[in-house]
Parts: sequence; C-alpha cells; structure tokens
Amino acid sequence: MNRQRIRLWDLPTRVFHWSLVVLVVASVVSGKIGGNLIVWHSRCGLAIVGLLAFRLVWGLIGSTYARFLSFIPTPASLLAYLRGQWHGVGHNPLGAFSVFGLLGLLALQAGTGLFGNDDIAFRGPLAALVSGDLSDWLTGVHKLSINLLIALIVLHLAAITFYARVKKDNLVQPMLTGWKEVEAGRAESASGGGRLAFCGALLIALAVVYGASGAWLPTPATPPASAPTPAW
Ligand code: HEM
Ligand code: HEM
Repeated sequence: MNRQRIRLWDLPTRVFHWSLVVLVVASVVSGKIGGNLIVWHSRCGLAIVGLLAFRLVWGLIGSTYARFLSFIPTPASLLAYLRGQWHGVGHNPLGAFSVFGLLGLLALQAGTGLFGNDDIAFRGPLAALVSGDLSDWLTGVHKLSINLLIALIVLHLAAITFYARVKKDNLVQPMLTGWKEVEAGRAESASGGGRLAFCGALLIALAVVYGASGAWLPTPATPPASAPTPAW
C-alpha cells in the first residue's frame, strides 16, 4: 500500500498542547501544595487562560486540522467511527469529545480560580468583583471540578496508549513533529493558519490575559494609618 506523509498539526497547535501539559501539571502540584506556592499557582492559571483563548481563536482561523469545524462530531461521523468506517485524519469523532471536554473543564477550572480565594491571604485576581460568599462557592467548585479534569486526563492518556498498543497508531509522534503517515490520497497536508492569523490569535490571547489578571481594577484604597496610641 502506498503511503504519504502529510503535515497534520501546525506548530502553534503543538506548542499549545505541550505548554498546556507543563502548565496543568504545575497548576495541579502548586494547587495541592498551596501555601506560598499559590501565587505561582495563580500565574500558571493565568498562562492557561491565555493558552485557552489562543486555542479558541486558532480553532476558527488556524490551519485545516486545528479548526473546530474539521472535527466537531456529528451523529453521522460518530456512527461511522463506531462502525469502523471513519477514515479521516486529525481528531477522530470520539476523541473530539474528549478534546472539547478537556478544553471546557480547563476553562471552568481557570474561570473559577480567577474568582477564588484560599481562606488565608490569597484572593484570585478577579475575586474583588464578586461577594465573599460567591468567591467561597466558586472555590468549592474549583476544588471539585479538578477531580473531573484529572479523570479526563487519565482517560486521554489511556486512549492514546490504546491507539498505540492495540490499533498500532502512534498519535504522539504527529503531536511532536507535526507529520503523519497516511495512505496515499487519503488526506492532504494542512493549509491556512499563516503568520497574520497567528499574530491575531496571539494579540487576542494577550488581551484576555490582561483582562483576567485584574491589572485594570482600581487598587483598593489603603486604610488610613491608625491614630497613635496616647502615652497616658
Ligand atoms: C495535563 C495533561 C494533558 C492535557 C490537559 C492534554 C490536553 C489535550 C488537548 C486539549 C488536546 C487537543 C489538542 C488540540 O486540538 O488543540 C490533546 C491532544 C493530544 N494529546 Fe494531550 N493532554 C495532556 C497530556 C498528554 C500527554 C502526556 C500526551 C502524550 C503522551 C498527550 C498526547 C496527545 C495527543 C497525541 C493528542 C492528539 C490526539 C489526536 O490525534 O486526536 N497529551 N491533549
Ligand atoms: C486562573 C487562575 C487560578 C487561580 C487564581 C486559582 C486559585 C486557587 C486557589 C485560591 C486555590 C486554593 C483553594 C483552597 O485551598 O481553599 C486553588 C486550589 C487548587 N487549584 Fe487553582 N487556581 C487557578 C487555576 C487553576 C488551574 C488552571 C488548575 C488546574 C489545571 C487548578 C488546580 C487547582 C488544584 C488542584 C487546587 C487544590 C484543590 C484541593 O485542595 O483539592 N487551578 N486554586
């Protein structure tokens, strides 16, 4: 059977993925340890907000297989996949559910973190925008939803191992190199997602990080110095 190499994952998608892996691991570890590390936890979370914003825009204007429209699962594509009749490349219809699930749960995790607090001295960068009760509630969601996220990551890794061991399809290599070997004529190399699209997505991501950082919020007024205690 003739084989050909196609360009599957563009560089921004790969850099997005591997940066996300590093930052999610750092966020989970620093979140669990807490204490002084909570400041770094918040910084990693803000970087994840930026990555998610970038990926959202890249899903609209990135290259062929990175676009959401190329892998949004439909009942027909799901059925074809389950019957072994799906012959596309990129995220398969079932895998696409896990991709959207991972992105959605990460957005929930980072979104709740922004308004959360650690019950000690730390408050999320946007916590000043909500009441103390709501901040506590969102912190509770933040502490619960992480379990769902970790479960989905374990499933993600199990699916990739299943593909490698059982289906003899190495999904990791294309996510590292960008290239994938397919049957000749089955698919074409990704196109689109040029420099202009990249700069647009990057600018939007930076604007979102600025918004999420709370740097635009007025600094709380410093309380007046207490009156000196009389000596008598
Ligand atoms: C913190 C852990 C991880 C998270 C949150 C995560 C998240 C994601 C996301 C969101 C995607 C979709 C990529 C996109 O279209 O933008 C993806 C795809 C992928 N990830 Fe991960 N990932 C994690 C760990 C890993 C690890 C450790 C590996 C490798 C051993 C891996 C291998 C892959 C591969 C191969 C794909 C492409 C799957 C396909 O071909 O459909 N991931 N991951
Ligand atoms: C957007 C910025 C984020 C902020 C400001 C933030 C804030 C916080 C705070 C204040 C806590 C401590 C809660 C407490 O001990 O009462 C916490 C815990 C935690 N966060 Fe975040 N977070 C953010 C993003 C994330 C992200 C993206 C992840 C994971 C991907 C994450 C995972 C965790 C974990 C695992 C804990 C420990 C939960 C537990 O005690 O079981 N956070 N976070």
